[in-house]
Amino acid sequence: MLELDKIHCGDNCDLLGQLPRECIDLVVTSPPYDDLRTYGGHSWDFFGVAWQLKRVLKPGGVIVWVVADATKDGSETGSSMEQALHFKRLGLNLHDTMVWQKTPLPMNHNRYEQVWEYMFVLCDGTPKVFNGKREACRNFGRGFPGGSTRQGGNDAREHNTQNAVKEDKLRGNVWVADTGYMRATKDAIAYEHPAIFPDSIAGDHIATWSNPGDLVLDPFSGSGTTAKAAKELGRRFLGLEINPEYCAIAERRIAQQVLELEAV
Ligand SMILES: C[S@@+](CC[C@H](N)C(=O)[O-])C[C@H]1O[C@@H](n2cnc3c(N)ncnc32)[C@H](O)[C@@H]1O
Repeated sequence: MLELDKIHCGDNCDLLGQLPRECIDLVVTSPPYDDLRTYGGHSWDFFGVAWQLKRVLKPGGVIVWVVADATKDGSETGSSMEQALHFKRLGLNLHDTMVWQKTPLPMNHNRYEQVWEYMFVLCDGTPKVFNGKREACRNFGRGFPGGSTRQGGNDAREHNTQNAVKEDKLRGNVWVADTGYMRATKDAIAYEHPAIFPDSIAGDHIATWSNPGDLVLDPFSGSGTTAKAAKELGRRFLGLEINPEYCAIAERRIAQQVLELEAV
C-alpha cells in the first residue's frame, strides 16, 4: 500500500501494482497526449495503466480521463477515442463524453484553432456519487410554455413543467476553464510544468464524483493539480508521477497550501 496524501515518484504502472484492488473512489487525470510532449523522455504503458485503474477502482467509482489528439500527416490520431473504447472493453461504462473548452494560444494552421479537449467520464457500473454542479438559468422567472417530457431508453428526463423557469439548473457537459489566471497568483509555480490543467477542472470533477474523505488518485500527477484540489476539498489523495522535477513542484504546491491554511 502506498502512503496516502503524498506524491509518489516512479512509474505509474509499477506504483499502481502496489495498491489493493477496489480502493480508489475517483481518478482525475490527464496522460501525455500521443508524443506531443516527452516530459523528460519517460514512457508509459496505456494498456497496463488502464488495466490497473480498472482493478483499483471501487464499484461505482469514476475515472475522469482528460485527453486530446496530436495531428500527424494531416490527420488527428484518434488515440483519445481509442483509449475511451479500450476502457469500455475492460468493462467500464462511458458515462459521459465531456468537453473542456479553453482559450488556445494563437497559431497559424490550415484548420480552425483547437479549443477543446475530451474529458471522458468512465465508471465501474453507475456513479455512486453525483453532486451535480448547478448554474443560474438565464431566463429565470420567465414563463415557460407548457413544459415537456422527453423519454429515451432508461434515461427519461423530466423537463421543467412549471410555468416559470427555475432559478438554477444542472450545468452542461462543456466546461470552460483556462489556466491563465494562475500566472498572477502564488500558484505560478505550477507553470514550471509544461502542461497543467486548471484547478477548476480538477476541483469541479472532484466535487461532483466524490464526497469528503474519499480517496482521489492522479496517476499522471504532473504539477499536482488534482492532489492540491483534493486536499482543498477534504478528500484523501494519491499522486503518481515519474519525473522527479514535477514531483518537487507538486510537493511545493501542496505544502504551500498547508502554510496558507495555517496562516489563516
Ligand atoms: C499532461 S501531464 C499531467 C499534468 C497535470 N494534470 C497537471 O495539472 O500538472 C502528464 C504527466 O504524466 C507524467 N508521466 C509520463 N509517463 C509517466 C509514467 N510512466 N508514470 C508516471 N507519470 C508519467 C509526465 O511526466 C507528465 O507530468
